[in-house]
Amino acid sequence: MKVVVNNEDVISQFIADEFIKVVNEKPNAVLGLATGTSPLKVYADMAKANKEGKVSFKNCTTFNLDEYVGLEGTHNQSYRYFMNENLFNHIDIDKKNTNVLLGVGDYKAFMNKYDQMIKDAGGIDIQILGIGSDGHIAFNEPGTPFDSLTHETELTKQTIKDNSRLFNNISEVPTRAITMGLKSIMNARKIVLIATGKNKAKAVYGLIKGPITEDMPCSILQKHHDVTVYVDEDAYSLVK
Ligand code: F6R
Repeated sequence: MKVVVNNEDVISQFIADEFIKVVNEKPNAVLGLATGTSPLKVYADMAKANKEGKVSFKNCTTFNLDEYVGLEGTHNQSYRYFMNENLFNHIDIDKKNTNVLLGVGDYKAFMNKYDQMIKDAGGIDIQILGIGSDGHIAFNEPGTPFDSLTHETELTKQTIKDNSRLFNNISEVPTRAITMGLKSIMNARKIVLIATGKNKAKAVYGLIKGPITEDMPCSILQKHHDVTVYVDEDAYSLVK
């Protein structure tokens, strides 16, 4: 596991550069994407590079990590909406090649075929991850089996509290989600994880130094052959 410590602007540009490199080497690359606050600058940097002609996403396919159960893709807190607003509307990707799990309708049928869809697309070439303050990656909360594939899950009180900042009221935060599993994530060829801020410090410690345990889902990444963790000083503060 490689670790890069720098400020948020710099690590975001580094990660955007990693994506750009993968896509320039393989124009039909399969990209694994995350939502949340952590990747926002990365996506802005990717969109800027696309506008400047440094990369084209025209032939790429994307798969997102997760979605809230109960939110339509048009809801402003759904992850489909987030991806359109923060990345897809600003790059030259063909939207029909962007895959985000469904949270309504026949979402279970879609969930059940998601891992096969990823496989059929050739597998994820590069996956970006954020990390929850409780050590979750995607919505794999503590206790999730390491061999899990895409599944429905209940969010922890901590995650609901953390994510309530984006809703009008904590009672509006969905309590369930669909998420790629830990095994689905481990299947990616290359993984980059971004974490900033003091409230991620404990999880980052578990990620880098802690024992590999299902109580700290991110710790499974210690077993992946190509992971780079990008952190700021605050997120790294318990490791050094
Ligand atoms: C989102 C996701 C989550 C977030 C994590 C951190 O697709 O998979 O695991 O990465 O909850 O969220 P932020 O970046 O908002 O702190």
